Amino acid sequence: MGVDVLLGLQWGDEGKGKIVDYLADKYDIVARFQGGPNAGHTIVIGDKKFVLHTIPSGVFRENIVNVIGNGVVIDPITLEKELNTLKGENVSLANLLVAKKAHLILPSHRNLDAASEAAKGKLKIGSTLKGIGPTYMDKTGRNGLRVGDIFREDFLERYQNLKNKHVDLLKLYPPIEFDLEKEEQQWMQSLEALKALKTIDCSYFLNQQLSAGKSILAEGAQGSMLDIDFGTYPYVTSSNTMTAGVCIGLGIAPNKINNVLGITKAYCTRVGSGPFPTELEGEVGEELRKLGHEFGATTGRPRRCGWIDIPQLKYTIMINGVTSLAITKLDILNTFAEINVAENYMINGEPTEDLPYDLQSKEILPLYTTKKGWMSDLEGITDYNSLPQVAKDYLTYLEKQLGVPIDYVSTGPARRSLIIKD
Ligand code: GDP
Ligand code: IMO
Ligand code: MG
Repeated sequence: MGVDVLLGLQWGDEGKGKIVDYLADKYDIVARFQGGPNAGHTIVIGDKKFVLHTIPSGVFRENIVNVIGNGVVIDPITLEKELNTLKGENVSLANLLVAKKAHLILPSHRNLDAASEAAKGKLKIGSTLKGIGPTYMDKTGRNGLRVGDIFREDFLERYQNLKNKHVDLLKLYPPIEFDLEKEEQQWMQSLEALKALKTIDCSYFLNQQLSAGKSILAEGAQGSMLDIDFGTYPYVTSSNTMTAGVCIGLGIAPNKINNVLGITKAYCTRVGSGPFPTELEGEVGEELRKLGHEFGATTGRPRRCGWIDIPQLKYTIMINGVTSLAITKLDILNTFAEINVAENYMINGEPTEDLPYDLQSKEILPLYTTKKGWMSDLEGITDYNSLPQVAKDYLTYLEKQLGVPIDYVSTGPARRSLIIKD
């Protein structure tokens, strides 16, 4: 009972959606607690592939409740598209609930996101351009509009006021192409789809459910290295992507949280700008990208690829209180005779395990240890003991280095390609 958390330990796209989809039927409720349509969580069921942006990845399990929490930012246009895709596939949406306190992404937030990125030139964050930064800025600036506001009589006036503020702000930036009027029309139409959903006070609802003995899985978006406070600032997203964000994003007290499942790929990727100490810019990186189909689920951009990074993972395990791990995409390493792991960093000639203030610093040299690859196909293996010994050695090595047990090993995109380790 209580709340378990599932989140990404790297820079996002660790395979969270797949693992949530598997775990969801062990819970009564799955709840997204932060982020918005910058997320792209892929779920493969049979020959169907779904990419969810705002809706929790438990939606394919009919008997559970899915909650879009107050910490999420919602773009009604993206949400409507997602709802329509799911309806088209006869996925039941009867148990989808939306927090009244979740903030709304306006078309002018997206316009501002694009203008702000364009003005940054070489210093671009590499934002998904979904309006995430400007929406969270309005939230903390106490200007934002929330889901509950759409039911107010003066909603249109509130909308116009905020939009006008944005239009004034946009005058400070060089003009960019953005058809605000057209986007606004579509946004207003999509509001109807949002209005038709059940809205809740997230904190009362979830705490009542907990009191009634129900269990909750909190689904993280992005990854801990993109956390607004503890990530590679300023190359981060605008929310708290870590365990602490669950309390803020759902209205749940810290003492309700039990297990924290951290997801990491067997290597590492990052999409967008910013530091990435173990990035491979040559052929090996290209090979990882090709084999891992490392292209963004939301934007289609090629993901930067590199080796798994122990100091980076130890840091995110520490700040999240991770109690167990899921290693995904182990199959992508099937054809590598040698697998590198960054065990340490050398910074200004000194070895260290701690992440420095500026991970961008050119002085950082990851110190690698080389592991033997298993050089065989993992397809169809669902029992841990049936894995090649060399693959088990790699996993045991990771467990030892990270000091946290591995509970799940994923060997393919499909639901069935998952090893549950006792
Ligand atoms: P998320 O944002 O953390 O949910 O991850 P994404 O969906 O953005 O990216 C993960 C990608 O890897 C998706 O295309 C998944 O279908 C795929 N995937 C997940 N687990 C595995 C795995 O174990 N092996 C392989 N080959 N693909 C996987
Ligand atoms: P999931 O949930 C990977 C990255 C963007 C950019 C930075 C800021 O699928 O793992 P934003 O649009 O949030 O202002 O962009 O964060 N980013 C992600 N990278 N996976 C994600 O989500 C991401 N969401 C945002 O690429 O570098
Ligand atoms: Mg993703």
